[in-house]
Amino acid sequence: MIITGATGSIGSEAVRAMAKKGHAVIMACRNVEKGEAVKQRLLEENPSARLQVMQVDMASLKSVNRFVESLKDQGVALSGLFNNAGVMNRSFALTEDGFEQTVAVNYLAPYLLTRRLMPLFLPDAHVVNMVSLTCHLAHVDRDFFDKKEDDFRQLGTYGDSKLALLLFTIALSKRAGFHVNMADPGVVNSKMLHMSRWYDGLADLLFRPFCKSPEKGALPAVNALTTDERLRFFSGNRCKRVPRKYMDNPQIEWLWATTEALLQRQGFDL
Ligand SMILES: NC(=O)c1ccc[n+]([C@@H]2O[C@H](COP(=O)([O-])OP(=O)(O)OC[C@H]3O[C@@H](n4cnc5c(N)ncnc54)[C@H](OP(=O)(O)O)[C@@H]3O)[C@@H](O)[C@H]2O)c1
Repeated sequence: MIITGATGSIGSEAVRAMAKKGHAVIMACRNVEKGEAVKQRLLEENPSARLQVMQVDMASLKSVNRFVESLKDQGVALSGLFNNAGVMNRSFALTEDGFEQTVAVNYLAPYLLTRRLMPLFLPDAHVVNMVSLTCHLAHVDRDFFDKKEDDFRQLGTYGDSKLALLLFTIALSKRAGFHVNMADPGVVNSKMLHMSRWYDGLADLLFRPFCKSPEKGALPAVNALTTDERLRFFSGNRCKRVPRKYMDNPQIEWLWATTEALLQRQGFDL
C-alpha cells in the first residue's frame, strides 16, 4: 500500500503500524533522503518491515503523474492508498500548475493520484483520505479553483481544501468497488501545528501538552485502512456514518465533474 507524507508525524506512525500488520508499504515522500532516514529508523525497530521509499512532490501534478507511471511500470497491485500528505501554508503561493498551493497539495494531488491509481487497486483495496475538523467551518463554492490572494486565509483555505477532499471521498465511494473512507486525526502534536506566527511559543506552552501523540493521531487512519466498512468517518477509536451535512452538500457532483474536466484539460488520462 502507499502512504503519502510518510516522513511526517502521523504518516510515519501509519507506516509503522501498517508494516507491523504485515503490509508492504510504499513510503511516498517529497524528500527521499528524509524518507530513507525514517525508513531506517522503522527498520531498526522492525527488521522484517517491507518498506520502499519513492519520490513524489504533491505540489506538482506532473510529479504525481510520474509517480503513478513508475508504479505502473513496476506492475504493482495495490491493497491501499492513504492520502495523508498535507500542508497548511502561511501565505498565498501558486504551484507550477497555477493552483493555490494548499488546494493543490491537499486536494488536487490526492485526487489525481487516486484516480490514476484506480486500475492498480485490488478489488478489496482501501483508500483513506485524511480530513480535519476544520471541515466543519469550510465552504467549497464555485470559485474554489480560482481563489485570489485576497481570498487566502491560512486556516480557512486549509479547511476548504480538506472539505473538498471529504466531498471527493463521498463521490469516489459512490463510484468505486473498493473501500473508500475518511479519517480525522484530531488535534495532533505535529510540525503542522506551527502556524509560523508570533504566538507559536505561547501556543506550544499552553496547548501542545493537550494534543494527541502522532501515534494516536494515526489510529483512525489505520482503522480505516483495515476496515470492512465503506464510506465511514473514522475519528478517535470510532467509526461513524459521514455526517448528513456533508452527505447532502450540494457541491459534491459539481466538484467531481469540475475536477475531472480540469485534470483532463491539463492532459491527464483519468
Ligand atoms: N496535526 C494535526 O493536528 C492534524 C489535524 C487534522 C488533519 N491533519 C492532517 O494530517 C496529515 C498529516 O499531517 P501531520 O500532522 O503529520 O503534519 P506533518 O508532520 O507536517 O506531515 C505532513 C507530511 O506531508 C508531507 N508533504 C507536505 N507537502 C508535500 C508535498 N508537496 N509533496 C509531498 N509531501 C508533502 C510532508 O513532507 P516533508 O516531511 O517533506 O515536509 C510530511 O511528510 C495532513 O494531511 C494534515 O492536514 C493534521
